[in-house]
Amino acid sequence: MLLVLATMITSVLGNVIHTNHYGSLQDSQYDRPGEIEPAIKSMVSRMTLPEKIGQMTQINQDLVLLPDGTLNRTAVEYYANNYFVGSYLNQLSRLDHIHGAHFVANATIFPHGINLAASFNPQLAYDAAAITARDTRSAGVHWTFAPVLDIPVNKQWPRVYENFGEDPHLSGVMGVAAIRGYQGQYKSDRSKVAACMKHFIAYGAPWSGQDRDSTVVSDRTINDYFVPPFQMAIDAGVATAMESYIDINGEPVVASEKYLRQLLREQMGFKGMLVTDWAEIENLYTTHRVAASHKDAVHMSIKSTSIDMSMVPKDVIFFETLQDLVNDGQIPMERIDESVERLLQLKKDLGLLERDGWKARRELQSMVGQPSDARVSLDAARESLTLLKNANATLPLQDRYERILVVGPSANDLGHLSGGWTINWQGATKDAWQGPIDDEQFYSNGISIHDGMKLVAPANVDVDYMAGFDIDGTSIDMDQVLAVASSYDAIVVCLGEHVYSELPGNIHDMALPSGQVNAVEMIAKVGKPMITVLIEGRPRVLGSIPEQSNALLQAYLPGPWGGLAIAEALFGKLNPSGLLPYTYPKYVGDVNLNYWRQVNDVWDPLYEFGHGLSYSTFEYSNLTLYDGASVLQENRQLADSPPVLKPGEPVKVAVKVTNKGPFDGKQTVLMYVQQPVRRITPPVKVLKAFQKIDLEKGKSATVVFTVDADMFRYTGMDGVARGTLDHGPVRILINEHVMEFNLQP
Ligand code: BGC
Repeated sequence: MLLVLATMITSVLGNVIHTNHYGSLQDSQYDRPGEIEPAIKSMVSRMTLPEKIGQMTQINQDLVLLPDGTLNRTAVEYYANNYFVGSYLNQLSRLDHIHGAHFVANATIFPHGINLAASFNPQLAYDAAAITARDTRSAGVHWTFAPVLDIPVNKQWPRVYENFGEDPHLSGVMGVAAIRGYQGQYKSDRSKVAACMKHFIAYGAPWSGQDRDSTVVSDRTINDYFVPPFQMAIDAGVATAMESYIDINGEPVVASEKYLRQLLREQMGFKGMLVTDWAEIENLYTTHRVAASHKDAVHMSIKSTSIDMSMVPKDVIFFETLQDLVNDGQIPMERIDESVERLLQLKKDLGLLERDGWKARRELQSMVGQPSDARVSLDAARESLTLLKNANATLPLQDRYERILVVGPSANDLGHLSGGWTINWQGATKDAWQGPIDDEQFYSNGISIHDGMKLVAPANVDVDYMAGFDIDGTSIDMDQVLAVASSYDAIVVCLGEHVYSELPGNIHDMALPSGQVNAVEMIAKVGKPMITVLIEGRPRVLGSIPEQSNALLQAYLPGPWGGLAIAEALFGKLNPSGLLPYTYPKYVGDVNLNYWRQVNDVWDPLYEFGHGLSYSTFEYSNLTLYDGASVLQENRQLADSPPVLKPGEPVKVAVKVTNKGPFDGKQTVLMYVQQPVRRITPPVKVLKAFQKIDLEKGKSATVVFTVDADMFRYTGMDGVARGTLDHGPVRILINEHVMEFNLQP
């Protein structure tokens, strides 16, 4: 009887899909920082002060390298014997394996964080991180400065692409997946590295949009929107954290007791190791100007915060100054011990206190760059591609157009596809402004858009390439392009941004260079179907481009294999399934818009967070309560007496999704929550759950979500972090469907 019932339910609901699951372990099996072991405490008690402060000191690798890049053994001995230096970072590529182990020879490079977010598939973030961890570890490196969990409120900020988008929940889910991939069981598994959540906190909201600018932000916004992804990372056991470059309302984070002790340690319960960002203690003196001397800066930071390691990184001044401060009695020894214990516990957990290592490393080295890794990179690129516009089903091209012209600077450049932090800090770029890069290893490990199109095009289709214009929009051979364009059946224009990271990526105008916009306008006048592909780290304002283009495909920074993924999407071998992980502004004045903004009547983005078309049509129906076995109530109207929702008593809802064709495809189901009225002006809506599903054409699936009263918590009038729940009507929104609940105490 039970079996019959189960079969009946399955036939009514289709395949029932519950929550995201990825990785092979149960949640509780992942390692996490914990209490300090007695053996570590005893080791620290036997160390001298210089030995202890050496552990807290991170310097740049160039201090111990010869000009030809080989190790300067004399320098290593000098820094070891005199300064007991505990950690080195690599200036060119640093420890920032944020999208693959890009400084390890032949390692696979993945799409950037913004693409993983657009994929809405945490499995991909997990897999990419697991491969990156193994490749990183194969080079004897135990740590990566990732994932990046800032909320890029300001879209002009040059670090938008490193992050998982503007939504706190999405960022948290992707961050947790990445942390689990990097760390796994890092206390015993020597193919794992420590992850580092960064940059704590509020870094993504620079007032001017320029990197490292001050942030002016309320505690409420910090608690309700910036803390959640970091809290999820802590709850998942992230081993380390990095503070951020900025000052918040004038208070530099690196010297802030409020943010680095009260918030991070006491409120959020972070037990791991905390590192500064690059030269940030020094910056208290040189740029933040809250300290009158270097000594003052070190004193202020170490005394007020729980920082364990200073990324000094160009000299040993931190070492000398901190030693003086302890000897003078200005910093107590217990404060130093607190940090050194955390540092040595981490090193022990990661196996740094063990001998051997070489054999295991050789095994890991033999796995670097295997074809299955590139496959993960390609899959991540595929699932991230976001179809923004597709008028009159211009795409997929299939074999409808026999002669296709590809134009634009991003169509034949792997560096553009991969963005910053690729091979070099400023990316593997051929852009003239940074000088040519000659890296055969990189350029032989990927497929440009033009090459991808030639590979994927049906046999009857010819694909030609002409540059047209460069990344600044300056014409290279636009006259010739326009002279021949009418002899083609369709034109694909690949636009983009310079390759950049951090400060060098600062811009003063969010508009794409006018030359690129003009080029699109001129090509559009030819009157052939025109498809525009965007390769960009942040949503540049597009002017007339969306209107001029018959189809618009957002590829973000899809990595070196992105050209193949884009070609597959253009020709219809792949049905796009990415969704925008941020609000795409229409106007340059709107760079600070988020979908979770408070109610406001000037909202006019180009595309909303979550926008993304498919070649198929997905129909949503039967949003209902769900008790694990059957549907309880049919679609309710807002006026009906709504079901009750109480803290500690979560309920489940189910929604049926049907692929109405004409292609198989993937679809991400988004569940937002909304509170129409509360004491502090509510956000329009906030995402609280999502699930990506794969549906053949004509098939249905039922997606089940849990709705919890905690989803409506916020920081209320009393200022207690996410401590307020206002009772009354609340809603969940899934696609066009709304279900109301009565939130009760
Ligand atoms: C960046 C960090 C990075 C560090 C080390 C800094 O400039 O802000 O994200 O981890 O450099 O490379």
